[in-house]
Order: sequence, then C-alpha cells, then structure tokens
Amino acid sequence: MAGEKTFYITTPIYYPSNKLHVGNSYTTVAADAMARFKRLTGYRVWFLTGTDEHGQKIQRQAEAVGKQPIVFVDEIVAWIRELWEELDISYDDFIRTTEDRHMKKVAAIFSRFYEQGDIYKDKYEGWYCTPCEAYWTERQLAGEKCPDCGRDVELIAEEAYFFKMSRYADRLLDHIEKNPEFIQPPSRKNEMVNNFLKPGLEDLCVSRTSFDWGIPVPFDPDHIIYVWLDALSNYITALGYGEQQSNFDLFWPADVQLIGKDILRFHTIYWPIFLMALDLPLPKTVFGHGWLMLQDGKMSKSKGNVVDPRVLAARYSSDALRYFLLREIPFGQDGIFSLENFITRINTDLANDLGNLVSRTLTMTDRYFEGALPTPTVTGPGDDELRHLALETPNSVEKAMSELKTSDALASLWLLVRRSNKYIDENLPWTLAKDPSGLPRLGTVIYNLIESIRFIAVLLKPFMPQTPESIFKQLGLENNNALQSWESLSQWGAISPATRVARGDDLFPRLNLQAEIREMQDGKTAGEEPEAEQTADEEQQGLISIDQFQQVDLRVAEIVEAEGIPKSDKLLKLTVLLGVAGKRQVVAGIAEHYEPESLIGKKVIFVANLKPVKLRGVQSQGMLLAAIAQDGSLALTTVERDMPPGSRIS
Ligand code: MSP
Repeated sequence: MAGEKTFYITTPIYYPSNKLHVGNSYTTVAADAMARFKRLTGYRVWFLTGTDEHGQKIQRQAEAVGKQPIVFVDEIVAWIRELWEELDISYDDFIRTTEDRHMKKVAAIFSRFYEQGDIYKDKYEGWYCTPCEAYWTERQLAGEKCPDCGRDVELIAEEAYFFKMSRYADRLLDHIEKNPEFIQPPSRKNEMVNNFLKPGLEDLCVSRTSFDWGIPVPFDPDHIIYVWLDALSNYITALGYGEQQSNFDLFWPADVQLIGKDILRFHTIYWPIFLMALDLPLPKTVFGHGWLMLQDGKMSKSKGNVVDPRVLAARYSSDALRYFLLREIPFGQDGIFSLENFITRINTDLANDLGNLVSRTLTMTDRYFEGALPTPTVTGPGDDELRHLALETPNSVEKAMSELKTSDALASLWLLVRRSNKYIDENLPWTLAKDPSGLPRLGTVIYNLIESIRFIAVLLKPFMPQTPESIFKQLGLENNNALQSWESLSQWGAISPATRVARGDDLFPRLNLQAEIREMQDGKTAGEEPEAEQTADEEQQGLISIDQFQQVDLRVAEIVEAEGIPKSDKLLKLTVLLGVAGKRQVVAGIAEHYEPESLIGKKVIFVANLKPVKLRGVQSQGMLLAAIAQDGSLALTTVERDMPPGSRIS
C-alpha cells in the first residue's frame, strides 16, 4: 500500500555448529521485541532470521562426528527452529544459506563483482581463525592468537580471489561520518573507524580452495566463496534481491540490523562495502549490542542446564526468560547471567510487582463487586498522578525502543506497575470496603487499577507475548482488539464499566531461590561434545540413551482440584501442585475410572515438560502417568511413601 510505514529488521544468522545458549538467543529475542513493537505501532514489518551453514568450521565439525555437513546442520537447524518457537519468535522468514534461493544469488553477486573489476585473483598467505571464519594479518594477531576469540589461528597459503576494499574505503568513512545513526551505539563507531578504517583497509580474501562446503565461484568452481560474503548477502537474498517485484523493493534498506558487538567489523565494513559495490543503499542502522556473560566469564554450552534456553524456558516460561534478557542487558553494555539474577528478577519484578498487582486487583474486584467493573465516581489521592503516568508511559516506551533500549523501555513500564501498586497502598481498598459509604471511592480505585493494568498489558505485548493474553482474559478483553491496541492508549478510561472480569491463576508464582539453584545446578550438564550416536542396532531394538530418558521431566504432583469437563465422559480437568514451580492445569482421560473428589490429595507422577495442548478447548499443561491393563482398567501411578510435591523422579 502506498504510504505504508515499513520496518525491516534482521538478526545475525547463527552457525548451526552447536545448540545455542541463552546468550546467543538474546539477539533474536531483542529483535523480536522490536519487531512486535513496530507491528503494534502500525508498521508493516519484515523480520528475518536464519542460519549460516557453510564454511570450514561447519565442515570440520560434521566430519568430526562422521556426518555429511547437510545432515549435521539439518539436525541443529531443526533444534534452533524449535527454540524460536518456544521463545515466541515472530520471524517472517527464516533463511538457510544452503537454500537454492540464496546460493544462486550469491554466485551471481560474486560474478558481478568480478565483471566490474572489484575482484581479482592472487595468492593468500596469512592467518585464519576457523571458529570466527576470519582472516588476520600478522600485525593484527594478539600474541599469536585470534584477537577476537583468543583461540589458535592457522597459517594458510592458497590461491584466492581478493576484493578491492580500498576502492570504497573513503566513501564508507564519509558515510559513517555523515550518518551518525549508521553504527549504534556511538561508542562502537569510534572503534571501527580508528582501529580498522583509518589505518587503511587491506584487500579482503573472498575465496578458499582447501575445503568444499560452500558456494563455488561460478566461473572457477575449485574456489569456494568466503563464508562471510556468502552469509552477509542473506539480508538481501532472502528479500528476493534480483527478482521482479519482490520484498526487496518494499523493505530494503534495512531499518535495523541487530548484531552482537563481536561481529561489528563484518557488518560495518565488509557488508557496506559489498552493498556499495552492488550500488545499493546501506542499512539505516547496524546495532552492536553487548554480551550476556557468566560471572566467571564468557558463556558456553558446556556450562550446562543453566545456560540452555530451552531448559530455562520450559521450567520458568518463555515470557520470564524474555523479560530477563530484555531487562538485564543495559544499553550498549554487557549483562551478567546467573540463575540467582534470573530467579531474583522473576520474584521481584514478575511475581511481586506485576503478578501481585494483577492478582490483588482482580481479587478485590471479585470480592467487592462480584467481578463487574464498577463505574468511577469519586476522585481521590493518586488518581491524577496514576492517569498522567499511564498516558505518558507509551511515549517513554516508544522513545526507548526507537533507540533499541529494551531495558529502559521495561524500566519505564515498571514505573507504572510500581505506581499502581503504590496507588493500592495509598487508597487502602480493604478499609474503604468496611463501610458502605466508602464503596463509591472503592469503585473508582478499582476502575483506575483495572485501566492501568490494561495499559500495562498492551505495552507488555512486544516483550512478553503470553502474559498479556492471560491478563486480557482476566480483564474480560480477550476478544476486544480495540482495547488491546496501541491507539487505545491515547485515552484514559476506555474500558467500559460493567465489563466482567475474573481472577485467573497467578501470573508468576514466587520461586524458592535456593531450591532452584540446587535443582538446576545439580542437573545434568549438556556437554559441548556432540552426543554419542545411537547405533542402528540399538535404534531397531527401541533402546534409548539415558540422555534421551532424562529429557522427560518427571515430578511428584499433588492433585488439588478435580472436576468433569462438560460433554465429555472421559476427561477430567485437574489442578496439580508442583511445589515451588506452582500449579498446573491438566486434562486427564480418567473420568471413567475415578470420581473427581476421590482424587484430591493424591500424589501422582507427572510429566512436567510436555508442550501444552488444548483438549476440548481446555489447556492441558502436562500429563499424569497411569498403568493400563489389557482389560482397559486403569490405575494412577503414585509414590511409595509421601514425598513433597515437585520432587524430581529420576
Ligand atoms: N554466523 C555468524 C553471523 C553471520 S551474520 C551474516 C555468527 N554466528 S554465531 O552463531 O556465532 O553468533 C550469532 C550471534 O550471537 C552474534 O551476534 C553474537 O554476537 C551473539 N552472541 C554469541 N554469544 C553471545 C552472548 N554471550 N551474549 C550475547 N550475544 C552473544 O557470528
């Protein structure tokens, strides 16, 4: 549509050489929050992510486990896609550099460079860091090691094609100086200009001949196109660059290319120069964010469960993990990840501040007004301040997001959450409720709180996609798109009195820090080495490894509520208690075998990490185990003696 506001955001494409840890999930979660925020505020968004599958590093890793590179990457790419699904990543396209649509265009780009004289053939003699897929000169090395990752480098000498970087260096310097928003945050700009551009750019080696896992140079197929030229091109090949009437026309140049600070050089020097050579405009902003570190240094998968984003999301919810990542890395700096920081954030920001606000307000609406939202009639302390802050918060969130400061955006949203809690304490609703003359003021207080919670839920949508859904449901607004919209935040008092609200489950049950640390750190360590392969024989016999078995999170669960499901003879809806992990709702096919009341208090064995499903429209978040005899009789499995709910079964 003409005049439509568009927004194109990209993440780096990940190497599928290993499963991702919570640190490298950060970039994608941040890009997702940004994409969702732009959609919320009316933009037509294109959000691209994907995987960088070629190169010597991947080829070597595949060889080390005796797999064809494509078989090796297929498995990890499937894992990465599942991770993004579990973290609610709303990408519009996922590009794999092994796809035809990408490879053909990269080959054409390379030929064009050659034909227009940007590329020439010579011999490369110098250093190469395979983990970073980066060339280094002797002078650039840090004490014989890679200056970026500190690992060993290899000396290589082979015939290669070179790209004449110097042709474009002045134009690039000029662009960087004239467009201060091009490299963000600004501190990173100086690093690039002073360390790389000003000392003079050397020509870049753009092909290799000592391995074959990559895109061959079309006119000289012994040469494989340098993996960074291949990878960087994804940002335009995925849009359909070179095709008639493609997304490329609509979305290029990118608005934001989000990357970690370690790959800034590739994105602010090589990439813009390749684009200039293609006569294309440069991205508006390349944003190099800080790193999530462990207290004892760099993050790595070998640190086990505590850094596995899928384990963390399954145990603490994707929303809690997203919140933590988006809140914990301050603008332009590094953040520290520890289970302690994470649990503390869940307990303070999510359970105490947000969770309590919602549960206290809805409990009071239920108790004092039978769930019908009262009409505001009598003004009093804090009303104006709450309203002004609520109306101001969308602006401060928007301003922070326009600078990609997700942490600041959440901090300003939490000012409203905390101000709303303070409003409860100022107005003492339970005291007002004691006397009928206090009821009109009580009604106003409740109305204002519900309206403030609605503002908070709308503003939370980009950051935590699931929690607002649950809040809107409790507010009786689940199907009300208008009151879930950004536009509805320009007016205070949009929710109509008499809306039926209903308190739901707690949003974020409080966690016991010590218990979590014990359980998670005692948990199995997911080693860096690839898992031992299952032999064909074992597979045939249906044998599984201990690792496969331990993927199932079995727990003792106490049944605390049980009821039938309308129009179903077989199903019961149960609520089970899992100790510190809180309560879960589960639908079990046991109605023909147990009366609901007879189940209360039973300690059963429960599968706690099943993906939620809906059965007869009812959410089921797990499964009870039961023995089933051949005649169809059924008995729930229990523990041999009393054990606390939540105990792990292994
Ligand atoms: N394949 C290249 C990118 C090519 S883009 C054309 C690559 N892949 S990567 O898998 O090694 O890294 C992907 C991203 O994860 C990078 O942006 C990197 O900065 C980021 N992170 C890796 N570890 C990280 C943390 N501990 N914390 C935050 N981000 C981190 O580089």
